[in-house]
Amino acid sequence: MTLPRLAAWALLLIGVGCTNAPEAPSTKSQLVADMKRATDHHSYSRPEEAVTTHLTWSAQVDFETRQVRATATYDIATSDDAQRLMLDCRDLTIHDVFVDGTKVDFDLGPARPFIGQPLSIPVTSSTQQVMVSYTTSPDAAAFLWVEGDSPFLFTQSQAILARSWVPCQDSPGVRFTYEAQVQVPSNLMAMMSATNPTEKSANGVYHFAMKQPIPSYLLAMAVGDVEFRSVGEHTGVYATPDLIEAAAYEFAEMEDMLEAAEELYGKYAWERYDLLVLPAAFPFGGMENPRLTFATPTIIAGDRSLVSLVAHELAHSWSGNLVTNATWDDFWLNEGFTVYFEQRIMESVYGRDISEMLSTLSYQGLVDEVDAIMDVNPNDTHLRLHLKDRDPDEGMTAIAYDKGYFFLRLLEETVGRDAFDDFLKTYFTTHAFQVMDTDRFLAYLNESLLTSEELRQRVNVAAWVDGKGLPANCPSVRSTRIESVDATLNAWVNGTTPSADLPWNDWMYQERYRFLSNLPDNTSSERLAELDQAWSINATGNNEVLFAWLEQAVRSQHEPAYDRLRTFLVNVGRRKFLTPLYRAMLESDQRDLALDIYGQARGNYHSVATGTMDDLLGWRE
Ligand code: BES
Ligand code: ZN
Repeated sequence: MTLPRLAAWALLLIGVGCTNAPEAPSTKSQLVADMKRATDHHSYSRPEEAVTTHLTWSAQVDFETRQVRATATYDIATSDDAQRLMLDCRDLTIHDVFVDGTKVDFDLGPARPFIGQPLSIPVTSSTQQVMVSYTTSPDAAAFLWVEGDSPFLFTQSQAILARSWVPCQDSPGVRFTYEAQVQVPSNLMAMMSATNPTEKSANGVYHFAMKQPIPSYLLAMAVGDVEFRSVGEHTGVYATPDLIEAAAYEFAEMEDMLEAAEELYGKYAWERYDLLVLPAAFPFGGMENPRLTFATPTIIAGDRSLVSLVAHELAHSWSGNLVTNATWDDFWLNEGFTVYFEQRIMESVYGRDISEMLSTLSYQGLVDEVDAIMDVNPNDTHLRLHLKDRDPDEGMTAIAYDKGYFFLRLLEETVGRDAFDDFLKTYFTTHAFQVMDTDRFLAYLNESLLTSEELRQRVNVAAWVDGKGLPANCPSVRSTRIESVDATLNAWVNGTTPSADLPWNDWMYQERYRFLSNLPDNTSSERLAELDQAWSINATGNNEVLFAWLEQAVRSQHEPAYDRLRTFLVNVGRRKFLTPLYRAMLESDQRDLALDIYGQARGNYHSVATGTMDDLLGWRE
């Protein structure tokens, strides 16, 4: 890397942090050290040779053709013997490439499934800027185009889909700042993971800046007829007009969560924290796009009962967005830390009773998932994954999330909460805007927390990180409220407590969910009818409760619920709900029903959902 160029980049980063906020790396040694570290099997980029440091993106969004036409201009830093800048692309049509203003020949390599193509651009050690003009495919994997009265476009870049809408070094170890100019139809608002408008512009042109360096999987854009509503000094919500009121109510406590999070692990580094409510087709619950979390509308329950998802995405502002998994094999460093942090925010804002109920549910989910994965690929129950030659999506299981969570909880219980909190706060501060891989984390852990042989033996890190299943020293959770639900369920099953006598109205959503999701598989349709008659469960506005109900309805072939099942599956594209519901249909000999509903719903789903569901259902277009 040439020194003047490095200095220029360092200059760009000055002023990133306000007082005490974590600062981005600005020394050559730190930058180069970061580049050398990770071998990412899911990217063609070679950042140790030439690395992108800043992106200027200029784009036009065309709903008619479902394409984005854009130029991506990168500032780059190069090694002394640099010859090529390598970018990842997937289904992009590359028009022209310019290097420091001169048009050059480029080389676009062969396409591999989900990895895409390498775009090789000739550079030298003195190259400053590279510009690529291109058009996205109507089938770009990151995009979902929603038609109808309220057209909408959103992106989902994690894990390796950013390359389907921006040619980039699509590896979590490469960070860059960005600015953008986006042209959209003039009745719509554009938003990105950056500074955002709060009102529509007259001409449909919007400007964005992200001055903290981020990895490509956090590049995000959404376009739709949305409004903004402030809910706190640093927080606000974006939603379509029909949902904005409900969203502002549901997420009114975001500022409290932000304060609780800062109190725990240090200053928030991204200035604002807003949330965008996406169409129900969004394939995830939430996505931690910096400054602007993307969220499913299915968490709007009317009573703020599902806001732990917001705590989760907010927590990623530290775990993931600030200290970032080096490769997708290290995904647990993002998600496990985030679930732990999420629980701590929930405990701090809503109390330990609530957070322990959530932990109990997550424990049950983990035990079920460990059992399921042990049957298929036991190595996938390790915290450290082995995703080479596989779609990183396969690593997105409860292992990274909940086994990761229980590992951190074990650390907390072993050294005590105060020591663990000090450790985490220092971890986030000293590694801010850096990547972290599993080995480096373990070295840091041994140096700073597990400093004696005795502590190391008690934790047995190897069993957690590279061992199968759930280690024997997994912490146990107890929630008296959940225990009492289990007792009530028993009494209902053996007939002692009739449906009408259940304390349904006194139960919080977690208790209702526990009850429904633990109904015996052979529960009859008549008994479900009884429950529904007493408590109108089929009409619930809580989508987690509805989901648990529908899954049991499928297993019990309770046909009165099938209209609701169909409506739910046609409108909601959240994979966490789709997979178990379609699977329940397959497992209860209702394949025809599954295929019929899927045929009706498939066109509404995002590629990450159809990818999974096509496999599950053996669907061929
Ligand atoms: N970053 C994840 C979503 C993700 C992971 C997308 C991997 C693509 C690849 C996000 O933070 C997340 O974990 N979402 C969860 C919600 C959470 C409360 C567990 C989800 O969407 O279910
Ligand atoms: Zn997450």
